[in-house]
Amino acid sequence: MPDVAAEARRRRTFAIISHPDAGKTTLTEKLLLFGGAIQMAGSVKGRKAARHATSDWMKLEQERGISVTSSVMQFPYGDHIVNLLDTPGHADFGEDTYRVLTAVDSALMVIDVAKGVEERTIKLMEVCRMRDTPIMTFINKLDREGKDPIELLDEVETVLGIQCAPVTWPIGMGKRLKGVVHLVSGEVHLYEQGRNFTRQDSTIFASIDDPQLEARIGAQMLSELRDELELVQGASHSFDLDEYRAGRQTPVFFGSAVNNFGVQPLLDFFVRHAPSPQSRETTGRVVAADEPRLSGFVFKIQANMDPQHRDRVAFMRVCSGRFEAGMKAFHVRTGKEMKLANALTFMASDREIAAEAYPGDVIGIHNHGTISIGDTFTEGEQFTFTGIPNFAPELFRRARLRDPLKLKQLQKGLEQLSEEGATQFFRPLMSNDLILGAVGVLQFDVAAYRLKAEYGVDAIFEPVGVSTTRWIRCDSEKKLEEFREKNAMNLGLDAAGELVYLAPSRVNLQLAQERWPDVRFDATREAA
Ligand code: G4P
Repeated sequence: MPDVAAEARRRRTFAIISHPDAGKTTLTEKLLLFGGAIQMAGSVKGRKAARHATSDWMKLEQERGISVTSSVMQFPYGDHIVNLLDTPGHADFGEDTYRVLTAVDSALMVIDVAKGVEERTIKLMEVCRMRDTPIMTFINKLDREGKDPIELLDEVETVLGIQCAPVTWPIGMGKRLKGVVHLVSGEVHLYEQGRNFTRQDSTIFASIDDPQLEARIGAQMLSELRDELELVQGASHSFDLDEYRAGRQTPVFFGSAVNNFGVQPLLDFFVRHAPSPQSRETTGRVVAADEPRLSGFVFKIQANMDPQHRDRVAFMRVCSGRFEAGMKAFHVRTGKEMKLANALTFMASDREIAAEAYPGDVIGIHNHGTISIGDTFTEGEQFTFTGIPNFAPELFRRARLRDPLKLKQLQKGLEQLSEEGATQFFRPLMSNDLILGAVGVLQFDVAAYRLKAEYGVDAIFEPVGVSTTRWIRCDSEKKLEEFREKNAMNLGLDAAGELVYLAPSRVNLQLAQERWPDVRFDATREAA
């Protein structure tokens, strides 16, 4: 009998958060290298290129220099199984990123040593804070000149409001970079240039008192280092597992991803201390990871991964129990049993058919539109995982066809793209308009591009008189009916058929709210 508890305990599921260009892709590549998943560096970029070849619309990503897809990579490290969930890089895709962060147990924050805390990092950090996600920090590009390490920690503490506990400390920086000291083990890892792209077996001394260290880094540097360490250890916090797990303290590492330096101490510390899958809240009860029965939720849908097959893959995070290929699971929202045939796992080398999966793992389920973001699967129990919201979009456009005969395709395209969650699709009750809502303006370009490439529809998006939307809820059928009648002009349905108030202005929304105190106007739709 497979031991679900033991399998859950050895899983580490996390995402990397960073400002674009801080080195997320490079670090991902190195982590995969340690996992033995790839032989050569450049493979993540290679994978990107291969995906571009199969999926045409991703050309847009390439042209814009953004990444709009997120993927899942799984690799073994020691006795552990690590799941790395990639978050989309561009600021416009915040909602998608948000949902990826609901599916992880911890995060790794990458900061550029020269740039310090940047705007996107601040935003992502806010998201992590909503769930008290534990965060480790990697300060990257140490081979370049950057800010003073002590000032950087100060910046992280004041700007991000999280206590720093340095675990490695740099010896020099830029041209003077000599290595890092491990403040917990006392070891000194020397930096050797040109060792990138292989597993780094750097020279390691047991402590800074090793007589050979002076010969390697020089008497002056050693004496400076001693002074600095004294200062750091006196002024900063030491690592506290409980504080880290509570999201109040971040262990900090220094290194250079491109040179594969300082990455291994990070990874070793990560698998040792980062949380394994934890219990999760549902509408019914709290579900513990080590329960024997399968449960999980869908946090992402990707359409047309393979345009030839028009498939849609729902990414499900396993929260408890064991998934086995071909098993049937209960789709709570529709109340139907569903056979999870041909589910995919995401071993870093490739997408593969999943034989089994455990808490913390992500499986990809092929489907034709029956599965939505936020859906829960169980082995029969009626509960839904909470905290995976759809946000009310902030920008709206009406889709207009250049060829009116393609209305059906347009509708289908908009519906399917909305299933992925980056955009939302609304149909007013009183008109034939097709309205797309998005959080960022770039998403309209992406939608237009994909409609053309994947559905053969030439559409443009033009302004429409909607400024915000709210999902409508009401406990009284009668009141709801009355509200519907009186406000039909401003009501519509979202892609899932839920009633939505399409407010022409904020003032209008406010008035409607005041006039209808029994009606709830919700800014997020927790997939019901
Ligand atoms: P991102 O995914 O966070 O956007 O960043 P990415 O890894 O793509 O890295 C951004 C740039 O920073 C890349 O350079 C990358 O090579 C460089 N970089 C990453 N880690 C380090 C490091 O430790 N030291 C130095 N000096 N540079 C680093 P690029 O010129 O944009 O791309 P490429 O020409 O290397 O492909």
